Amino acid sequence: MTAMLSLERLSVSFAGEAGPSIVVDDVSLTLEKGEIFGLVGESGSGKSTIANAVMGLLPASATTSGRIQLNGRETTGLDENDLRNLRGREMSMVFQDATTSLDPTWSVGEQIAETLRAHQSLSRGAARARTMSLMHEVGIPNAAQRYRDPPHRFSGGQRQRIVIAAAIANEPKLLIADEPTTALDVTIQAQILELINGLRHQHGTSVLLITHDLGVVSETCDRVAVMHRGRILETGPTRDVFGNPSHPYTRALMAANPAWSRRGSRLPVVPREWSIEEVRHD
Ligand SMILES: Nc1ncnc2c1ncn2[C@@H]1O[C@H](COP(=O)(O)OP(=O)(O)OP(=O)(O)O)[C@@H](O)[C@H]1O
Ligand SMILES: [Mg+2]
Repeated sequence: MTAMLSLERLSVSFAGEAGPSIVVDDVSLTLEKGEIFGLVGESGSGKSTIANAVMGLLPASATTSGRIQLNGRETTGLDENDLRNLRGREMSMVFQDATTSLDPTWSVGEQIAETLRAHQSLSRGAARARTMSLMHEVGIPNAAQRYRDPPHRFSGGQRQRIVIAAAIANEPKLLIADEPTTALDVTIQAQILELINGLRHQHGTSVLLITHDLGVVSETCDRVAVMHRGRILETGPTRDVFGNPSHPYTRALMAANPAWSRRGSRLPVVPREWSIEEVRHD
């Protein structure tokens, strides 16, 4: 079966005053269809750079070598137009600090609907109906009433879910989620992870989940790669990597990860009915 995503000897360097610095160094990995793959590693290890390379969103100062294949199709070398077509429909990303990607002056419903209409020929009414069902799917209650609310009327966890709704609106085959639960409390975190897991089950979405939280990885990911300074040190089924880490860095990361030791290997999943939604600030 063709892999959903395959990176073959991917390297990325940035031009700098003291010469180029290599921030992704000879990385190869494969993400199968319907798989949730975790990418972990300390700050600055190159995780977001890999995500941006896959999305074709690296700045002009970056030099890339190696191959990136999306569902069997080589994407390195595609022009901006082709990449824009792939983004949204084939692959989509929830950015680190995702909620800043919402326009503060525009209703969340219209923002999601716009994402839909950018890739599909839908009437306004159809886009609106689909948006409301997406808002419902990500657990925003009263979507019909909340459609016209701007982002600041939502809680941080709700805004994160709205960003996820926009990212999955066109049912991408690959979802890259860059620290989607950082800065959220454990209850909301569990709901977002449950949502991402549900996408895989309902739509067969492949997910590249970037996080520094090993508890999140152990709860959610089928396989994991541990990165350090641009390189993958260790990769394999999550259970094996964390159950029997072969690299000293992985062991150090496990020892240093407070969430891991506090939480053990399971995150409590709280049923959505119990969740306390933040009160509207009208
Ligand atoms: N546009 C850029 N220009 C120059 N250097 C960059 C650029 N983007 C990232 N870098 C450098 O590349 C390295 C990797 O950054 P990256 O954002 O990929 O790390 P990360 O693993 O996602 O870290 P974090 O966990 O903090 O989000 C860092 O040293 C960073 O300073
Ligand atoms: Mg990052």
